[in-house]
Amino acid sequence: MERGRRKLEHIVHALNLEQKREAGFDDIVFVHQSLPDIGTNDVNLSTTLGELSLSSPLFVNAMTGGGGQPTLEINKGLAEIAKECGIAMAVGSQMAAVKDAKERQSFEIVRRVNPTGVVFANIGSEATVDEAKQAVEMIEANGLQIHLNSVQELVMPEGDRNFIGALRRIERMVHAVGVPIIVKEVGFGMSKETAQKLEEIGVTIVDVGGFGGTNFARIENNRRPTSLSYFNDWGISTAASIVEVSQSATSLSVIGSGGVRSAFDAVKAIALGAQVVGVAQLFLKVWMEQGTESLLELIHEWHKDFRLLMTALGTRTIEELRHVPLVIYGQTHHWLNERGFD
Ligand code: FNR
Repeated sequence: MERGRRKLEHIVHALNLEQKREAGFDDIVFVHQSLPDIGTNDVNLSTTLGELSLSSPLFVNAMTGGGGQPTLEINKGLAEIAKECGIAMAVGSQMAAVKDAKERQSFEIVRRVNPTGVVFANIGSEATVDEAKQAVEMIEANGLQIHLNSVQELVMPEGDRNFIGALRRIERMVHAVGVPIIVKEVGFGMSKETAQKLEEIGVTIVDVGGFGGTNFARIENNRRPTSLSYFNDWGISTAASIVEVSQSATSLSVIGSGGVRSAFDAVKAIALGAQVVGVAQLFLKVWMEQGTESLLELIHEWHKDFRLLMTALGTRTIEELRHVPLVIYGQTHHWLNERGFD
């Protein structure tokens, strides 16, 4: 199938997929503190991601690009919102634009709309160093996301079948690209074993892209009659994956993403060990179905919710929030126990 049409179909399916709350956030309960000893004005939402400083822990995660005019409009709309709210934004895979100059404008618009904001480029682990550099230059990116999506490829009949050499290619990009590299999953989660391999080759930032939100196995299986249904529930939940990565590869900055659907989920992702939280499907859905004002309002509300929740927990900074006491129930508790985490 032609790549642009597939990307548009992904958007339609992603927006309509039933959301089941499997990301594990419901298993996380904060321990109430009766003496928080701060006021909401003391809360500071700025955070760091490797060497990058961000004024908000929230960002718009990678979605679209390379699908002609409709995706140009989406990227333009999301970039305007990222600028207005002072949050970072990642573009979707730029592979098509690296190969075909006609596709570049749907990405370039993001930098044009938001000349000084933090923007991440995006490419697959099959890319060469030269392709990675082109993706960064195309939008003058502050960082480069390299996505790992082996299960999504396997579920697609036209997808890749050979994943040999990805780690070595990522290593070369780490040394040659000139901006921080973020290695990300796309909804199947990242294990401690993967995180440690990435840490060893010099990666400093990973995005767990956990199970429980957008599910490309279900999306692909819903698009055709013969389905590989055994991949539908494949993956590490976002909550479990954040703990796996942050506790076993401690030099990494961690992005919690996958199924974040409220500020409360985002605050829990940070309390589990993330520095930054990425949201893809929900932000796109609100923008497409309700418009710019509604998404701006939602992000402002989330920032307000962050201040209230962090005040209740007595945490002034995102770093303090990463260390609050909490209790882990249910499947997430079971998973972490089985995998050797306390
Ligand atoms: C994505 N995602 C994605 N990721 C990536 O690295 N490159 C890409 O091109 C895309 N494309 C894309 C399109 C659409 C329509 C969606 C909804 C998502 C994955 C995304 O960045 C994220 O990892 C997952 O969607 C999980 O987060 P949410 O959607 O549960 O918040």
